[in-house]
Amino acid sequence: MSIAKAYDVAHVRFRAPDLDRMRAFLVDFGMVDAVVDQPTDHLFMRGTGRAPFVHATERGDPGFAALGIWVRDRADLERLAAHDGATVEPFDAPGGGLVVRLTDPDGFVIEAIAEQVALPPVERIAPQPEPWNHAGEYPRIGRFRRVAQGPSHVQRLGHCVFGVSNFRSSEQWYKERFGFVTSDEIQPAPGVAIGAFMRADRGDEPCDHHTIFLFERPGAPAQFMHSAFEVVDVDDLMAGHDHLVSGGWHLHWGVGRHILGSQIFDYWNDPWGHEIEHWTDGDKLRTADGGGIAGMGELLGGQWGPPNPVIAELMK
Ligand SMILES: [Fe+2]
Repeated sequence: MSIAKAYDVAHVRFRAPDLDRMRAFLVDFGMVDAVVDQPTDHLFMRGTGRAPFVHATERGDPGFAALGIWVRDRADLERLAAHDGATVEPFDAPGGGLVVRLTDPDGFVIEAIAEQVALPPVERIAPQPEPWNHAGEYPRIGRFRRVAQGPSHVQRLGHCVFGVSNFRSSEQWYKERFGFVTSDEIQPAPGVAIGAFMRADRGDEPCDHHTIFLFERPGAPAQFMHSAFEVVDVDDLMAGHDHLVSGGWHLHWGVGRHILGSQIFDYWNDPWGHEIEHWTDGDKLRTADGGGIAGMGELLGGQWGPPNPVIAELMK
């Protein structure tokens, strides 16, 4: 039994010197203000889902600051606090609630939160598109599929990826505290594990194939790698792609479809280079669906789309 149980990732937190520029990027990325009057030294942005905010920025030197993880309740927080010598505190952010701040083996700050209250729905409601017609199956008859131009509609944070210095140590740390289960362990050679896609243990309630991905890269420092936000569907993702291009923002990798997790993905960089992903149509697993082992080809390859920049660099 783990000390607590994660339900999902809740938010990511960054530092940046220019909150107006971060906001301009995130609006083009498809988020909206989480509060009517943004505080002076913080920026809180949300999607259309239940989270009161999904992305926070503090004024400061650019960098990753924290990952928020929802746990079940106050009892989970109290057990985490007791185990790690931390304290349960009021969470000073939209939605309030309680937080325990933990530090993982590589120094990443994890904000375990509970009792957060969802804010009223945002006015900008996500589109509810007409269904897709497939060859031989046509649910849309006499109606028209029209895609609104403009930003994607970010719904929620779906996962976060950390480059770690020791995969097994980090895996143990997260599983012991949050009860994550492995969806796919990455083994470049049989028995040699350097990473894993892990999901929340929700029993029969389906969960994304990955909620967190820990990845040990030989010779590379521990670092935040990317955060990933779910959008409505592939049309919403592509409309947002065009909108980000027209805004002059930096495309990192996309559009394509992953193998592990199956998402259609589109990776961008925020104004300070942090990778941030739009995704849609990912795999959903229950706890009983178990996990597997995959190689580097499945990790870095795609089902379609441009090559991973890591591979493209090696091919030069
Ligand atoms: Fe991702």
